[in-house]
Amino acid sequence: MTASNIPEVIATVAEMQRRVRELRAAGRRVGVVPTMGALHDGHLSLVEAARKYADVVVTTIFVNPTQFAPHEDFGKYPRTLQADLEALGRVGCELAFVPEPGEVYPPGYSTYVEPPSVAAPLEGVCRPGHFRGVATVVLKLFNIVPADVACFGQKDFQQALVIRRMVADLNVPIRIEVCPIVREPDGLAMSSRNRYLSPAERERSLALSRALRRAEELVAAGERRASVVREAMQNVLADAVDRLDYATIADPETLEEPETIERPVVALIAAVVGTTRLIDNMILTPPSNRQA
Ligand code: PAJ
Repeated sequence: MTASNIPEVIATVAEMQRRVRELRAAGRRVGVVPTMGALHDGHLSLVEAARKYADVVVTTIFVNPTQFAPHEDFGKYPRTLQADLEALGRVGCELAFVPEPGEVYPPGYSTYVEPPSVAAPLEGVCRPGHFRGVATVVLKLFNIVPADVACFGQKDFQQALVIRRMVADLNVPIRIEVCPIVREPDGLAMSSRNRYLSPAERERSLALSRALRRAEELVAAGERRASVVREAMQNVLADAVDRLDYATIADPETLEEPETIERPVVALIAAVVGTTRLIDNMILTPPSNRQA
């Protein structure tokens, strides 16, 4: 690890916009990876994906206050900037945009994006206002870092849908790539929030990925009743988690909940273990769709 590997840190909107304009004028393709920091291999996989589509990658690190409800973990969200920059250097990220909250939301700030209808169910019910904050900051980040391509994780399945829909609806000139979920060897989806889990809670958290694998097995074996698959997931989760927000089957484009599984669907789970809220999901493809 040498100092030259550390990405250059840019803190102001004006400088970030100027740098991206310069790069693109010089014919270089720019990729952007929006994050809230506390980076893990899931985030770094997005940087690696962005490098395939772009010549220069900008990672944004900003714990966005407008997507947290007052009772949520904004204040204690992990902030590990030095380690984040070192990790970004190791995967070839050249630029990091790391603004102060007042740079993104200066005094008098009052404009918000009304998110698309796909933001309404699931997380939209459990975290009212969350996607309004996400859509607002992501649109701002696309204007601050006017890149060719942006990479997001399937881990936040509904978030990726919200962003794809917003970009299409508002004609934002950026390509959106959604990248696979990176998991720990035991199946737990990587998350910045996993560090809140005690060893016992960490063990119980494995129920989320186990429930998804159970759903996958059932669908692979020909089960088409969504209610049966939902109940099987709920049974796996019941004793392990402290609160189940949802464990359901939905259409991967609309998030409508079908009665029968005739096409690929997404199984989605949100649950609280201890005081930590975890989400996970998996695409399930019924057997007849496999060779299509
Ligand atoms: P954050 O939770 O830091 O996640 C940043 C990006 O990393 C998101 O696109 C997320 O889906 C992706 N990601 C997280 N865990 C992953 C995993 N295990 N595998 C693959 N990708 C993973 O999502 C946000 O931040 C914010 O809402 C943001 C979009 C930055 C707006 O503030």
